[in-house]
Amino acid sequence: MYEKCRLEEPGRMRRNIDPCILVIFGATGDLTGRKLLPAIYNLGRDGTLPANFACVGFARREKTHEQFREELKGDINQHSRTKPIDEGFWHHFQEQIYYHQSEFDSDEGYEKLALFLKQIDNRYATRGNRVFYLSVQPKFFPIIIEQLKKHGLVYNVHEVEDRWSRVIIEKPFGHDSQSAAALQGEISKHLDESQIYRIDHYLGKETVQNILVFRFANAIFESLWNYKHVDHVQITVAEDIGIGTRGHFFEEQGLLRDIVQNHVMQLLSLMAMEPPVSLSADAIRDEKVKVVKSIRPLSEEDLKETVIRGQYGKGFIHGEPARGYREEQDVDPNSKIETYLALRLFIDNWRWAGVPFYLRGGKRLPKKGTEIAVIFKDAPGVLFNMHGKKNDPNVLVIRIQPDEGISMKINCKVPGPSSPIQPVKMDFRYGSYFGQSPPEAYERLIWDCISGDSTLFARVDEVEQSWAIYTPILQYWSIHPPTDFPSYPSGSWGPKKADELMEKENRAWRLL
Ligand SMILES: NC(=O)c1ccc[n+]([C@@H]2O[C@H](COP(=O)([O-])OP(=O)(O)OC[C@H]3O[C@@H](n4cnc5c(N)ncnc54)[C@H](OP(=O)(O)O)[C@@H]3O)[C@@H](O)[C@H]2O)c1
Repeated sequence: MYEKCRLEEPGRMRRNIDPCILVIFGATGDLTGRKLLPAIYNLGRDGTLPANFACVGFARREKTHEQFREELKGDINQHSRTKPIDEGFWHHFQEQIYYHQSEFDSDEGYEKLALFLKQIDNRYATRGNRVFYLSVQPKFFPIIIEQLKKHGLVYNVHEVEDRWSRVIIEKPFGHDSQSAAALQGEISKHLDESQIYRIDHYLGKETVQNILVFRFANAIFESLWNYKHVDHVQITVAEDIGIGTRGHFFEEQGLLRDIVQNHVMQLLSLMAMEPPVSLSADAIRDEKVKVVKSIRPLSEEDLKETVIRGQYGKGFIHGEPARGYREEQDVDPNSKIETYLALRLFIDNWRWAGVPFYLRGGKRLPKKGTEIAVIFKDAPGVLFNMHGKKNDPNVLVIRIQPDEGISMKINCKVPGPSSPIQPVKMDFRYGSYFGQSPPEAYERLIWDCISGDSTLFARVDEVEQSWAIYTPILQYWSIHPPTDFPSYPSGSWGPKKADELMEKENRAWRLL
C-alpha cells in the first residue's frame, strides 16, 4: 500500500507523522460527505497523510465497502475543493477506505470493530494508532467513548506507550455550563485531556491562524493593540442564508450556541490574547483562556440592554423574496429561537480596560461575511478637522471569509489644490496574492490530530469559561421570552435595537 500513496513526491509538505487508522463515526452523515471525506481525499492527494493509513466509516445503515466508496466518490466530486476527482489517485486510495455497520451502543459492533481494526493494522502496518472522529449527535459522545474504552480501542495514556488513540469531538460541546460539565465528567472517565480534540472548524481556517502571525510577526501593530489606541472592536459573523433544511437542529440550538459561544469567542480570544511564551499548544491556549476569564460577567442590566437577540421575518435576499424563520421547514410557527445576536463585552485586563468588544452574528443578513474590525481612536483634531468635520477613524479589518484578507482604512489627500481629505483602503487579498485558495479547515484539523498537535482544538477550560459567559444569557432568556419576534426582515442588518445599542454609544456597526 506504501507505493500507492503519493507521499514521497518532492516538494510536498510532510510532517513526520505516525501511521494510523482514522475511524469516522457517523460516516453516512451530512458532515462526512460534505467535509470530512473530501478533506481526507485532498490530504491523500496532496501527499500529507501518513504513508501507512486507512479510514473506516462507522454508521448504522447496511452497505458494503464498495457501496460506501462509490457514495464517497460522488460526495468528493460534488464537494471537494479540487474537482473533478483524480481518477488515477482515487482508484488506489479508495482501497484504503472501509465501512463498518453497527449501532453506536452495540457491544457486538465494537467487538467486530476491534477485530477489523487489528486486521487492518496487519495489512497496513498502522501499529495500533487510532483517530476516532465522532461526527454524530452530541447525545452519542459518551456512549461511543465508553464503548471504545470498554473494548480496548482507546488506551490509557499512563499504561500504553507504544501506540496512541485520539478522539475528535464535533461541536457542540454541551448546550450550557451544566451540560458541558456533565459531558466532560463522562468522557474524562475514559480519556485523558491529551486524547480529546474538541473541534471548532473556525480554528482550521488559514485566516484565523493568520491572526497570530499578523499580530506577533509584525512589529508595527502590537504597540497599537491596546486601550490607548483602540476605540472599540467589532466581530461579525454574517450569513445571508436562512436555516434551510436544518430546522430541527436549529430549533434546539439557536444562534448563540451555533455560532457565538464557540466560533466568535475563538476569534475574540485570538484577537485579544497576550503573546504566548512559545508556540506550543498549551502556551497558546493558556493565553486564550486568560482572555475569556477576564471578560466582565454580564450584569442584569447588560442582559436587558446590551444583549440583543432577533429572529428573521419575511423579506428579500438579493432581490428574491425570502420566508421568515417561523415559516421554515421543521420550525415551530411560534418559535422563540434567536437567529441573530449582538452583544457588548468588556475584557477587564490591563491591555483592554474600557474597550468595548461588540460581537454580532446573524442569519438572513444582506451579505455573507466574517470579519474582525479594529476601530482606532481619532487622531487629535488640531490640523485637519476643519469646520468641525471629523475625519474617519483608521480601521483595520481582518476578513476571515469570504474574500480572505486584511485591509486598513487611512485618510488621504485628494489630488488637487483644494485638499479635501478622503478615507482610502489599503487591501491585501490572500487569493490574488498567493494565487491559490487555502485548504479547507477540516484538512488542517484532521492532519493536526493525526500528528498530535492540539493547538487548534479547544481545551476544556476554554469551553467552560465560554459557557460561563453565555449560560447567564440563556437563563435570562428562559425567564424573559422575546415579545417582538420576528424582529428583523430577511435581508436587513438585524433588529433596530442592535443599531440603537451602538447609537447610544456614538458608534455604528460596520457595513460589510
Ligand atoms: N452537518 C454540518 O454541517 C455540521 C457542521 C458542524 C458540526 N456538525 C456536527 O457534526 C455532527 C454530525 O452532523 P451531521 O449533520 O453529519 O449528522 P447526520 O447527517 O444526522 O448524520 C448522523 C450519522 O450518525 C449515524 N447514526 C445516527 N444514529 C446512529 C446509531 N444509533 N447508530 C449508528 N449510527 C448512527 C447516521 O447513520 P445512518 O445514516 O446509517 O443512520 C449518520 O451517519 C453533529 O454533532 C453536528 O452538530 C455538523
